[in-house]
Amino acid sequence: MKRIFKVFSLIFCLNLNGVDAIAQDSPIYDYRAVFHPVIAENGMVASQEDLATKAGLAVLKEGGNAVDAAVTIGFTLAVTLPRAGNLGGGGFMLIHLAESQKTIALDYREKAPLAATADMFLDENGNVNQEQIRFSHQAVGVPGTVAGLIMALEKYGTISLNRALQPAIELAETGMIVDEDLYNSLIFAKRWLQKSPQTSSIFYKPDGSLYEIGETLKQTDLANSLKLIAKEGKDAFYQGDIADKIVADMAANNGLITKEDLAKYKPIIREPIEGNYRGYQVYSMPPPSSGGVHLVQMLNILENFSISSLGHNRASTLHVMIEAMKWAYADRFQFMGDTDFVDVPITRLISKSYGNSLAKKINLHQATPSQSVLPHPAFQVDESKETTHYSVMDSYGNAVANTYTLNFSYGSGLVVPGTGILLNNEMDDFTAKPGSPNAFRLLGGEGNKIAPEKRMLSSMTPTIVMKEGKPWLVTGSPGGSRIITTTLQIIMNVIDHKMNIAEATNAHRVHHQWFPDLLRVEEGLNGDTLELLEGKGHQIDGSHAMGSTQSIIYEDNQFFGASDPRKPGALTLGY
Ligand code: GLY
Repeated sequence: MKRIFKVFSLIFCLNLNGVDAIAQDSPIYDYRAVFHPVIAENGMVASQEDLATKAGLAVLKEGGNAVDAAVTIGFTLAVTLPRAGNLGGGGFMLIHLAESQKTIALDYREKAPLAATADMFLDENGNVNQEQIRFSHQAVGVPGTVAGLIMALEKYGTISLNRALQPAIELAETGMIVDEDLYNSLIFAKRWLQKSPQTSSIFYKPDGSLYEIGETLKQTDLANSLKLIAKEGKDAFYQGDIADKIVADMAANNGLITKEDLAKYKPIIREPIEGNYRGYQVYSMPPPSSGGVHLVQMLNILENFSISSLGHNRASTLHVMIEAMKWAYADRFQFMGDTDFVDVPITRLISKSYGNSLAKKINLHQATPSQSVLPHPAFQVDESKETTHYSVMDSYGNAVANTYTLNFSYGSGLVVPGTGILLNNEMDDFTAKPGSPNAFRLLGGEGNKIAPEKRMLSSMTPTIVMKEGKPWLVTGSPGGSRIITTTLQIIMNVIDHKMNIAEATNAHRVHHQWFPDLLRVEEGLNGDTLELLEGKGHQIDGSHAMGSTQSIIYEDNQFFGASDPRKPGALTLGY
């Protein structure tokens, strides 16, 4: 018998028919819990936008596999979540294939154009020109999304590209209803979106005012681009009509991307980063993302502490977590970059022995100042944290964790005329000047300096945790520099604290990234705990809500999922 349990959204979700029966025989479903996951038997999708989740679920129900659903969701989000879903950006897809028992890391990260140079964003005084690196045509990395999604479908999918693009084309052509989330994001991004007449004409009315909640937003040019991709495949984007339009736009605006850059772009299949945490196998993204390495590094450090008996979000637990975060982010600065260009000591960084040695450096009573972990000056700049993650598990045992982005909300804010395609501003993820922070206040090192065709360092951390060789947890998050620590906390919440996935998702989060030497805490974390942490020497800084995790657990022949309540519009559905 098939049971469909609908997702609750936001925090106030309570029990559903039939759940108590399951609760009694499922260790991951605890009816004492306040928050309950979505439960299903055949497959599940968790994404940050409800239309995309429904599009992915429809593919699963038709018999498609997790990759088919993931590719469909990826194209759909380019229409329905334009601030992060994309065609003009890039990302990472982690795929577990049940049949071959393999986990594959698909890298479709953007790369620097051939004409890029290490100092291209430095002004005459040697300072980073923030406008140029974030909002100009030079801020745009060669996009990877279209090639990445199509490669995933061709190699591991079963449906046609036409089918995968169908919901995206329909939603772009007939329009989608503006919801609160889209409306608010367009208020937030108005400042840079309205600088470009093309962008403004798509997302705002002719007089510059907003589409109201409940009104319909059509993206006709984007629909035409999607149709071209359906007809001609990736060549439409990298060599055909769309490529011509991108190159013409670049040439007219001092941008660097040429036809050669587009024609040469290729996604790369890489070996995932593999770790082990308390008997679970953790697979995540290798460089050019720093996510997998530092996730495993932090887990290795934390395995030295009895986290479950210390207790969830108790001061002693948070203290060791924060210290582990500092060491990991200092190493990120020191060592990380695109491994096709620089040597990164990955084996050492993810080794148990290194984790154990760092654990020994942790003073249980006193915070180590970041300056003592690794000296460096701190800087202050604004942050942005847009990206989006989704997770899919199917009835065949396949799993997909995908995180992709335009970098900022709506990327550079530039749309290629006549295409409806927003362009990323991912060049800001390079180290434009060693020691100078990017928009996430992350300090970049020498290994992440700009070079032609190099991929910029990322924090995206799509992750699959396996139990006894089978996918158990699929998770990931947006959040800029906070992605890695957010993913860490989901994993610890379910493994160490035995939370169900909804409780693990809703639990308050903390973040430290070495510099600035500040502990970021979400609103509502226990005040007494914070006082104890201050007593240990942590300097506490309030924070916006962190991340938007989309997670699924498979246990006892059932799928348990949860969409983060921190961003409206997210939806987990199973069948
Ligand atoms: N642009 C954010 C990241 O790649 O981590």
